[in-house]
Amino acid sequence: MQSLPALLDARLRAVTGVDPEMRPATKPQFGHFQSNVALRLAKQEGRPPREVAADIVARLDVDDLCEPLEIAGPGFINFRMRSEVLADAATALLEDPHGGLNPVAYPQRVVIDYSAPNVAKQMHVGHLRTTIIGDCFHRVLAALGHTVIPQNHIGDWGTQFGMLIEEVLDEGIDAGSLTLDEADALYKRAAARFREDEEFATRARARVSAFQGGDEESLAIWRQLVEISKPAFNEAYRRLGVLLTDDDLAGESTYNDDLPVLVRELEESGVAVVDDGALCVFVDGFEAPLIVRKTDGGYGYATTDLAAIRRRVRDLHADRIIYVTDARQAGHFAQVFAAARKAGFLPGHVTAQHVGYGMVLGRDGKPFKTRDGSAATLGSLLDAAEEVAAPNIALAAIKYADLSNGLQKDYTFDAERMVQTTGDTGPYLQYAHARVTQILRKAAAENISWGSVTVLEEPAEQQLALLLSGFGDVVDEVAHSLQPHKLCHYLYDLAGALASFYEACPVLKSEGDVRASRLALCAATQQVLARGLGLLGIDAPERM
Ligand code: ARG
Repeated sequence: MQSLPALLDARLRAVTGVDPEMRPATKPQFGHFQSNVALRLAKQEGRPPREVAADIVARLDVDDLCEPLEIAGPGFINFRMRSEVLADAATALLEDPHGGLNPVAYPQRVVIDYSAPNVAKQMHVGHLRTTIIGDCFHRVLAALGHTVIPQNHIGDWGTQFGMLIEEVLDEGIDAGSLTLDEADALYKRAAARFREDEEFATRARARVSAFQGGDEESLAIWRQLVEISKPAFNEAYRRLGVLLTDDDLAGESTYNDDLPVLVRELEESGVAVVDDGALCVFVDGFEAPLIVRKTDGGYGYATTDLAAIRRRVRDLHADRIIYVTDARQAGHFAQVFAAARKAGFLPGHVTAQHVGYGMVLGRDGKPFKTRDGSAATLGSLLDAAEEVAAPNIALAAIKYADLSNGLQKDYTFDAERMVQTTGDTGPYLQYAHARVTQILRKAAAENISWGSVTVLEEPAEQQLALLLSGFGDVVDEVAHSLQPHKLCHYLYDLAGALASFYEACPVLKSEGDVRASRLALCAATQQVLARGLGLLGIDAPERM
């Protein structure tokens, strides 16, 4: 559906030849939108702005959309949508099979790399953020018609397995019977010994080579650690209500066989060169090179990421690749993308984007910790929110808090504030949805029917209809900029406009056409709230 501002924008652009920079009106008496285009053109042309504005107005044909245009102050052009245009837009939304979204003309194959916890370790608060953010991108892009291919790049390979396996053997435990909590504790014991016990560290290093060389005993233990971790990750995904499944697993280990091949190719083509014993890719703009093979012959995190890019382009046919990780990995990805371009793994028509997010802080402004002072696990965070609210409300609170600020920013995990049903919170939006649903339910119970939005006399109902018509644009913007907070703000404004509407416009207590029209407007708002929350991964209960 084309939004009303987009329609106006296009016509004004055709007349002026420049971006009209349409803005919402600052006050209701100025109408609905305002453009300063005349002021800008007047400066260029050295003419009085009001005169330029009058010229534009004379040439602009928007009679079908707007009330007669007004020129205000120094030369602003004010637009007031005709009420039947707003009513039709709301009705169209209600009847739109796409629920107001704009399905894309050219669907892409979009790989989203998110969540990616590490085997034998608890998921921590950072994993909470990547999982929630990636899930939101997944929902938004899929809703617009793209093919989304989630890739859960779990940390299931690497040198840490040397010490883990060695510790399992030393303690004589059955790795296959461990819970993830127990594996996490084992990890900590192994790491401590690795730091303190030279003899153990030497054995752990030797174990890495044995394990990577295919030693069956080592691989059996490794497999057990992977197998006990997966159900724990899935349990976290179930609790979070996200779309990831085992089909999306593409852990580091799956690239293992590609690494020597890829590295040989890089060396042969001259993209990688030996420097100080290590095989390196030098990319412009980075001080240190990207090391693709260490001096000891091993491969690291970056090599695996190059292999992943290559496979995502070559085998998964990605048009766009999105990575959601901690903001501190921004440099790593910038360099990996540049190296992949240089190597030809990432052709020009494929976009690669890293979306970094900030930290989760406690109320003391420090990285969030559990009550006993240990670094918070994802589970402990969910528990903390569920102490103050029902699970679906707690989850809405967490997801909304996570998505409603610029992602790069750190955010404060304040469970008590986040679960409030007033203010800029997830539960507030759920409540707005439940309340409007209740009105529709009551109407249905009293056999009051509604069809379309026809009468829109009150400014509050006009404002609501106007906002509704902008839903598709906002979702497009999120798909493009990967900034979910724009959708959050939109929904928050919508809930606010709905509250003002209730205050000014009785629904069930009104009569006839007015009542039918207001009910239809409620139905359209309910639809957008439910859909919008759904795109954020937030449940929209009918009752609260
Ligand atoms: N496992 C890593 C971590 O926990 C994140 C991996 C992100 N994805 C990637 N392709 N490097 O920090």
